[in-house]
Amino acid sequence: MELDPAALSIPDRYKLLIGAIVPRPIALVSTLDAQRRTNVAPFSFFAGVGSNPMTLLFCPATSPDGSEKDSLANSKPPAEGGTGEFVVNVVSDAFVRKAIATSEPLPHGSSEFDAVGLTTAPSRVVRAPRVAESLVAFECRTLQVIRTNPGAPSSGNIVLGLVVHVYVSDTIINAKLHVDPAALDAVGRLGGMNYCHTRDRFDIPLGLAALNAP
Ligand SMILES: Cc1cc2nc3c(=O)[nH]c(=O)nc-3n(C[C@H](O)[C@H](O)[C@H](O)COP(=O)(O)O)c2cc1C
Repeated sequence: MELDPAALSIPDRYKLLIGAIVPRPIALVSTLDAQRRTNVAPFSFFAGVGSNPMTLLFCPATSPDGSEKDSLANSKPPAEGGTGEFVVNVVSDAFVRKAIATSEPLPHGSSEFDAVGLTTAPSRVVRAPRVAESLVAFECRTLQVIRTNPGAPSSGNIVLGLVVHVYVSDTIINAKLHVDPAALDAVGRLGGMNYCHTRDRFDIPLGLAALNAP
């Protein structure tokens, strides 16, 4: 099948993105609004960007009615009306149902933390709290928001964050800063309502040596 995105409906384009770009890590993004009310929501269009400086991104799409999701409204730079801060919390199996439940579109200003039973913990550098249940949290200052089609329904937005502090639970990291994947037990998103564990792992060396790996 050969497909021209321009000839596809928006839902079909989305279906291809979420069905074929798998597995996707889940950023549970916590923010504060201008009144310092907490907000938390999951985003699987999420990636690390670079290590010098340490940067990452998540992509809160514009809603079908053209409005901004709260996570975007809260995390965009102060010059655009946001707080310029957010925290990416890594999702483990132990609280994955609560993490996914935070995707409920609550009225602006009602906290998903309270609605799903997740707990806030103070961050060290930014004002937005981290999620206490999460074993890793990246505190970020927003560098830039890139909008692929400003204000258009279901258009993409990239929130680029500078990581200004990292929390890692002592239970999952060693002195060499190696994170134990079994202890982290991260969950990924596939298409539709499908998710996966990170429990089936194998090693492959870099480069041509990969060809001789068992
Ligand atoms: C696992 C998961 C991943 C999601 N990933 C995204 C995403 O990458 N981008 C997006 O715009 N919405 C995504 N959503 C939907 C948002 O979480 C949902 O729209 C949420 O209500 C946004 O909350 P907010 O308005 O508080 O920012 C995802 C939902 C789930 C359950």
